[in-house]
Amino acid sequence: MTAEAETQAALLAALRLQLDWGADEALALAPLNRTLPRAVARAMEPAPAAEPGARPAQPLAQPLARPALVARGAVAPPAATRAAELAAGAHTLAELQAAMASFDGSTLRETATNLVFADGTPDAGLMLIGEAPGADEDRLGRPFVGVSGQLLDRMLASIGLARETGFYITNILPFRPPGNRTPTDAEIGLFLPFVLRHIALAKPRRLVLLGGVSAKALLRAKDGITRLRGRWREVMVEEESTLPALATLHPAYLLRNPAAKRDAWADLLLLRRTLDGE
Ligand code: URA
Repeated sequence: MTAEAETQAALLAALRLQLDWGADEALALAPLNRTLPRAVARAMEPAPAAEPGARPAQPLAQPLARPALVARGAVAPPAATRAAELAAGAHTLAELQAAMASFDGSTLRETATNLVFADGTPDAGLMLIGEAPGADEDRLGRPFVGVSGQLLDRMLASIGLARETGFYITNILPFRPPGNRTPTDAEIGLFLPFVLRHIALAKPRRLVLLGGVSAKALLRAKDGITRLRGRWREVMVEEESTLPALATLHPAYLLRNPAAKRDAWADLLLLRRTLDGE
């Protein structure tokens, strides 16, 4: 390969990486320098020129809080310890959301636009847990609002469940992985204390685990989703406290594999029958 061709290949690879990181997606109203930590980038943003008499523009969702600074010379505890401590210290859902927004132990926070905490009805008794926000969720700060979320809403509506009354929904990761890549085991492990605390505070009677990432993380299983789905299993939430959980196929998988909707429908009917029998 000539030197010129090598340079061209390197430039193309760099461009491809930028695309993987989502550089082509307009997520916010104003550009954000993603090569700097978010707090620094936000601090460098020029104040927008206001129209005379205009009200300040409202952000689409609450911007992420600036991470707490560690005092000079102090050693920050490992991220996993901080996550566990922050989760345990939250006694309400609002406190948990604030704790997660303040958690700076994951680089996912630096590339995400918003923390995606939860949506729906916390006291519905039914909690759904997906994988991680995608581009639409990251932009709006709400889980399952993109195409796969709309399919999920339609599927649940067909068994009489709506976010407004019937269920509460969140994800294993509260931040979008760049380019929608699959979460790593380390990321899942880091955020698991927050998810378990989220369940403990919402106090659902039942869980639905959407897709393999959620099912494997919460059932602590190695099997794939096709083996885990389709029957009620137990999730250990806090010491000596378990909850029935039904794993099912992720709606994004159903969009790619429409034939699998038959299995998902069987899972939904099992959910409906179980709720009816309560
Ligand atoms: N997929 C998920 O797992 N969660 C979302 O919030 C959106 C898509």
